[in-house]
Amino acid sequence: MDFLTVALPKGRPYSETVALLRAAGLSGPELTEDEGRSLLITCPAQQVRFIIARDSDVPTYVEHGAADLGVVGKNVLMESEPKVYELLDLGYSRCRFVLAAPSALDPKQLLDGSSARRVATKYPKMTEAYFQSRGVQVETIFLHGSIEVAPKVGLADMVVDITETGRTLKENNLAILDELWTSSMRLIANRAAYRLKADRIGPLVQKLRELIAG
Ligand code: PRP
Repeated sequence: MDFLTVALPKGRPYSETVALLRAAGLSGPELTEDEGRSLLITCPAQQVRFIIARDSDVPTYVEHGAADLGVVGKNVLMESEPKVYELLDLGYSRCRFVLAAPSALDPKQLLDGSSARRVATKYPKMTEAYFQSRGVQVETIFLHGSIEVAPKVGLADMVVDITETGRTLKENNLAILDELWTSSMRLIANRAAYRLKADRIGPLVQKLRELIAG
C-alpha cells in the first residue's frame, strides 16, 4: 500500500492538529505535539508521512500533489483559492477576520472615501474584495506577519487580519471596525489523490467526522 502524505501547518494550530490526527489513528509516536525542527516526519507503522509547512504553503503542497491531504485554516483557503477539495471543517482554531484601526481614530472618517486609505494585511485579495463591495477605495499593503504594528508606525491607516483571542489587537491599541468573515481549520485533499487513495482517505474522513461530533 502507498504512503499517505499529509501537510500540516506550523504554529498555533499544530499541537491540536497532531492530537486530532493521533486520535484518528493516523499518526504514530514519531509525530509529537511539540513542534521540532524536522520538517518531514515518517510514521512507518501507519504508512503516513507528514510535511511540516508554513500555513500559507499547505495548499501549494496539496494542489501540486506533493501531499495527498492537508490541514489548513479557511482564512488561507479563502485568500489563495487552491484547486483542491475541502473535505471537512475540523472546527478548531476558530477566528474572525476583522477590519481594525487605532482606537483613537474616528471610524466614520476612515471609511468615508474622501481619501484613499492604506490597509495592511496578509490577505490582499480578500481585503480588496471587501472594500470593493463597499465602494470604498483603499491601497492594500501586503505584509507576511505582525500586521498590527503597521498603523503604529505610519505604514497603514487600518489592518485586515484574523483575531482569535483579541490580545494582539488590544495590546496594539486597535479597535474592531467591522467583522468580515470567520475561519476554522479544514481538511483538504489533492483532487487526484482523493480518487486514487479513496480506500485510505474515505475511512479517515469518517473517523475524523466521528471525533469532531464527539
Ligand atoms: C495571527 C494574526 C494576529 C494574531 C491574532 O498572527 O495575524 O496577529 O495571530 O491572534 P490573537 O487575537 O489571539 O492575539 P500569528 O500569531 O499567526 O503571527 P504573525 O503575525 O507572524 O502572522
